Amino acid sequence: ASIHDAFVAAGKTYFGVATDQGLLQRESNAAIIQANFGQVTGENSMKWGSLESTQGSYNWGPADFLADWAVENGKEIRGHTLIWHSQLPGWVENIGDAETLREAIRNHVATVMGRYKGKIFHWDVVNEILNEDGTLRDSVFSRLLGEEFVQIAFEAAREADPDAILYINDYNLDQANYGKVNGMVSLVTKWVEAGVPIDGIGTQTHISEGMGANVHGALEQLASAPVNEVAITELDIRNSPVEDYTAVVQACLDVEKCTGITVWGVSDKDSWRQGDNPLLFDGSFAPKDAYNAIIEQLGA
Ligand code: G3I
Repeated sequence: ASIHDAFVAAGKTYFGVATDQGLLQRESNAAIIQANFGQVTGENSMKWGSLESTQGSYNWGPADFLADWAVENGKEIRGHTLIWHSQLPGWVENIGDAETLREAIRNHVATVMGRYKGKIFHWDVVNEILNEDGTLRDSVFSRLLGEEFVQIAFEAAREADPDAILYINDYNLDQANYGKVNGMVSLVTKWVEAGVPIDGIGTQTHISEGMGANVHGALEQLASAPVNEVAITELDIRNSPVEDYTAVVQACLDVEKCTGITVWGVSDKDSWRQGDNPLLFDGSFAPKDAYNAIIEQLGA
């Protein structure tokens, strides 16, 4: 069975997974992605700190590997991520004036999106820019530019690849009427009305047992913003309960704007949440109960 094919048959666009070169070079891991998933996200390779830790000196190898692998294997690519306060090179962190930072953002977005133009269907243009109360997070971007950096980044992204679908992405957007969800909806509404070209809201969905039931309400609220789509972009669930995984899949099926789901890794042994066993395949690459339950849920 292919979880991606089953999800597409149910009316969605993709079911994908985060990965990168080292993982793709392990045959057992690559084989699972080839068979089950229709989309890949670079877990680390396309972050600013991975690509340009020294200004002007680019490390394209791992990102090119991912993009080439995806094209050869017929997988869509979500680009992750252009503007993020974390895994940010020191030289960007240390920029001291607004105009230099504007130029750095424009140049970064144009260079990276330009390189992969036509190959990457979704880009996380900005990532994790909100606090839990829905206000703008402190970072070099917000300190020097306030909200303007959002407009600069999205406008540069639209110009670099007009066909790419442009996302704002964040975590802890997992229940309705939570401060960060309220803030996301009202800020995105304001920005879109002001002409900022935001196409979609990504909810990472790194959650714990029992939280799957709230995801439907959260997705509905996010989808109430004036964007064309929403997506679950980094799904993993502590101890991978069947009920939580199937609730999240059902939430995406039921919310029309939800276009797809990406899980944040294949095997528990490679998860960033070591000890949580949050993914669909165990440390020996065997499908877990949650995987089998989703396949059954999708009628595959
Ligand atoms: O590549 C170096 C390696 O050379 C070095 O020896 C090793 C020693 O620490 O570190 C390696 O880099 C690590 C990198 O993953 C690649 O494995 C970094 O230390 C480590 O911090 C980094 O963690 C990643 C994390 O983002 C960074 O914040 C995780 O793999 C990745 O899953 C995680 O993904 C994020 C999303 O981008 C955004 N949302 C949250 C999500 C989970 O934190």
